[in-house]
Amino acid sequence: MNLKLKVWRQKNASTPGALADIEARNIPEDASFLEMLDIVNDDLSSKGQEPIAFDHDCREGICGSCSLSINGVPHGPSETTTCQLYMRKFADGATIYVEPFRAQSFPIIRDLVVDRSAFDRIQQAGGFITARNGSAPDGNCLPIGKVDADIAMEAAACIGCGACVAACPNASAMLFVGAKVSHLALLPQGQPERTSRALKMVQTMDEAGFGNCSNYLECEAVCPANIPASVIARLNREFTTASLKNTVS
Ligand code: FES
Repeated sequence: MNLKLKVWRQKNASTPGALADIEARNIPEDASFLEMLDIVNDDLSSKGQEPIAFDHDCREGICGSCSLSINGVPHGPSETTTCQLYMRKFADGATIYVEPFRAQSFPIIRDLVVDRSAFDRIQQAGGFITARNGSAPDGNCLPIGKVDADIAMEAAACIGCGACVAACPNASAMLFVGAKVSHLALLPQGQPERTSRALKMVQTMDEAGFGNCSNYLECEAVCPANIPASVIARLNREFTTASLKNTVS
């Protein structure tokens, strides 16, 4: 396959960026999108040009690092991560726009790499439990209802990639925070910090500059982990309840 790329190039956060025309030649249709960028970078390097900076780690759809907008859609035309997107999804000769995730709270570091440490700060504020470490307990010693277990597992699938923020007109992180709060609020292990978790994670989310949810639901549409928007409703309930408890205590 031969493709015409329009890639966002930006030296650093303080230098203006622009789309650059770059040819991608002889790309196998079974290459992943990131492998296509590897081939393009080899080509650029062999010509003495600066390779395109982009984020990646696992390349297995697990870590959430590969934060690219492809033709204006976070992670591109598939319901998965960029690293799991294959070039056979595109027509030979196609023009493809490749940009970083765009959100004020995800400042650009270079080219397609953005700083998503705001998510780390939110997670550090409350996305943990204080259960004692040790060997894994027997699976049957702490019964959890099937419905709660299923919803908690569904929320736990969030990989923190930030596509929800990039897709939202408000740059809201409430799908991400809703998934983390819901996951732990539904399990017995998450109860000791349930109130403080909701308060601290929402406060940190607001401090990082993320917007509020106004039900566009673009987040749900692009989420590679299929996190449902119902976690946002649960986050609102958890936060309201925690605020009331905090006021009373
Ligand atoms: Fe880890 Fe894509 S590189 S999810």
